[in-house]
Amino acid sequence: MNAGDRIRLAAVRAGALPGSGAEGADLVAPPSLSSVRSYPDLDALDAAMEADPRAYRRHGNESVGLLESTLALLETPPGGEVPVARATSSGQAALLLLVSAATMSGRRRVVLLRPCYGGTESLLLGPLAALGLETTVVDLPPDPQPADAGAIVGNVVGRDVALVVAEIVTNPLVGVVDIEAVAAAAHSCDAVCLVDSTLATPFLFQPLAHGADLVLHSLTKHLGGHSDLLGGVAVAAAGSEVAGWLDSHSRSIGAVLSPFDAWLALRGLRTAPLRVERGSASAAALAVALSGHAALEAVHHPAVREGAAAEVAARLLPRGSGPMLSLEVRGGRGGAGRVVRRLNGIRLAPSLGDVSTTVSHPATTSHRHVSAEARRSLGISDGLLRFSIGIEDEPVLRAELEAALDAEG
Ligand SMILES: Cc1ncc(COP(=O)(O)O)c(C=O)c1O
Repeated sequence: MNAGDRIRLAAVRAGALPGSGAEGADLVAPPSLSSVRSYPDLDALDAAMEADPRAYRRHGNESVGLLESTLALLETPPGGEVPVARATSSGQAALLLLVSAATMSGRRRVVLLRPCYGGTESLLLGPLAALGLETTVVDLPPDPQPADAGAIVGNVVGRDVALVVAEIVTNPLVGVVDIEAVAAAAHSCDAVCLVDSTLATPFLFQPLAHGADLVLHSLTKHLGGHSDLLGGVAVAAAGSEVAGWLDSHSRSIGAVLSPFDAWLALRGLRTAPLRVERGSASAAALAVALSGHAALEAVHHPAVREGAAAEVAARLLPRGSGPMLSLEVRGGRGGAGRVVRRLNGIRLAPSLGDVSTTVSHPATTSHRHVSAEARRSLGISDGLLRFSIGIEDEPVLRAELEAALDAEG
C-alpha cells in the first residue's frame, strides 16, 4: 500500500470499531459525552488520576482521542514516526497552542507569510503581540506567487526567530507556496516551520513529508466538511520539543475540542478523501473553463498558471491543489455583488469546506481586518469572490457560474 492509499484508508475507517463476538457491536463508536468518570473507591480514583486521562474530559476523552489518533495517522510521513496531534476547539486555538509551544524556547519572533487567513494575522498581531511576541509579516507578491519563497524568508529570518508560519495553499488567492524552500530557510537559523494545511488537507499534501515541523488544520473546513462543527488540530513531528510540550501542557490551556464535535469530525473524515478529490478536480476544471471570461479580470487557480508557479504546484500538489477557486469580477464590489445575487444555488457564506459549493467575499470576511492598502498590495480586490467547490456535478456548477457571469454583459 502506498502512502496515499494508507492515508485515505485511515480516514474512511476513522472511528470504526474492531469486530467483536457473536453478539455483534456498534459499527461506529458512539460519542462519549460525560465530562467526568466515577470510581468505586479511593484506590481506583487514585489509579485513574495517575494513569487515565479520561478521568476528566479536559485531559482526555474517547471520542477526542479517536479523532486525534486518526489525524496523527493522516499526518504521518511515509516511513516516518507518528506525530503528536491535539484536537482543539477551533483552528485558531490550534495556532495558539503551536505558537505558544514553539516560542517557549525563549525566541520571541515569528515570521508570517502573507497572503494567509486574516485570522492568523489578527491573532499574531493582536493578543500574541500584547503578550510580547514580535511578528514580522512578509508579503509574497500577488498571483502568480514566486518560486523563490525560500529566498524571501531567508532575508528576514535570524537567530531570534522561533518559527515561520505559512500556508501551502494560500487563502484567498489559491497560491501554492514552496514549503520545502520555506522550511529550509527556517531551519537555516534553527527556527521551526509551521504549515497551515487547511486548504490542502492531508489527502493532497503532508507538510511533515516536505520538511515542515508543525501542522495545523481547521477541522471546521474540508475535514469536517458539513458546516456543523468548529474545531482544529495541532500536529508536531514525533520527538520534537513542541511535541513534548503539546503532550505535557496542551490540556492545561483548555482549548480542547468537545466530544460531540470530535464525533462529527470523525464522521466527516470518513468521506473527506472523496469530497476533497472531487472538489479539487472540479475547481481545476472550472478554472480552465472560466479563464478568459469577459466578466472576469482574473481567475486565481494553479490550473491556469504557467512557469515557476505551475512547477511548484505540480511538484508539491501532484494530486490537485484543493477545492478552492477565486474569481475576480470586473466592476469591483458592485460586479461581485451582482454575480453573488444571481447564484441562487451557490450560497454566500463566510467560511469554506462545505459538502456543497459556497462563495465568500474575502474583502468583507476573512480579510476584513486587513487594511485596504494591504489588501490592494496582496491582490485582494473588492471584486474578488472565493469559491469553495463542493461535490455537485461540475457541468452543473459551470452552467450556474456561466449564467451569473454572462449576465454581466
Ligand atoms: C486557512 C485557515 N486557517 C485557519 C482558519 C481558522 O479556523 P477556525 O475558524 O476553525 O478557527 C481558517 C478559517 O477560516 C482558515 O481559512
